[in-house]
Amino acid sequence: MAAASPPGRVRSRGRRSARPANIDGEQLTSAELASFFILLVVAGNETTRTALSHALMLLTEYPDQRALLLADLENRIEGAVEEIVRYASPVVFMRRTLTHDYATKGQDYREGDKVVLYYYSANRDETVFADPGRFDITRSPNPHVGFGGPGPHYCLGAHLARRELTVMLRELMTRVPDITAGEPDRLLSSFINGIKRLPCQF
Ligand code: HEM
Repeated sequence: MAAASPPGRVRSRGRRSARPANIDGEQLTSAELASFFILLVVAGNETTRTALSHALMLLTEYPDQRALLLADLENRIEGAVEEIVRYASPVVFMRRTLTHDYATKGQDYREGDKVVLYYYSANRDETVFADPGRFDITRSPNPHVGFGGPGPHYCLGAHLARRELTVMLRELMTRVPDITAGEPDRLLSSFINGIKRLPCQF
């Protein structure tokens, strides 16, 4: 006999249920589910492929950093990925709405105010990063905000993005360590620091 599901929960035993997850009686509508799917596809695609293109451009522009990476790939790749995300800042900004009044650095903000958070700029803050314009894969600590600031909206895919970049970079640096990037075809956007096409040779 099948065990009864808790009230409001979708029972899923063996065969997958086609119904969306239901928590405490609430579930996403079809429209919300569709929007979330589009968010995942866009947020998870433009960002990582852009970061990888920037990685190739940066390792071409800074051969000393490539040499450092190749000299100890396993121990330096994690730092390289963080520095690529800081330096490239694939997501340039986000616009948010204040949920309550807030004061910082002599500025008063009111509930409902619309604010823009420039991650690209924060990632070059000279009060946080020594020589912020330098691409340095050994930078430590590297408290960049390329995946957003701390809080409930911190990038949902940050772990996946780090894993994707690590795997791709490790494969490239192992199989074609001399790969170099040519002139990028940039995305015309103030929101995504995107690369549409990047010729490479090896
Ligand atoms: C290098 C790659 C990536 C970068 C630079 C990036 C950057 C960001 C940033 C800056 C935000 C806003 C955070 C905030 O407001 O504090 C964000 C949110 C988000 N990201 Fe990413 N992201 C990347 C990869 C991914 C991947 C691979 C996925 C999923 C497959 C993903 C899914 C999301 C989602 C769903 C949100 C919205 C989270 C929310 O508002 O609660 N991202 N990302």
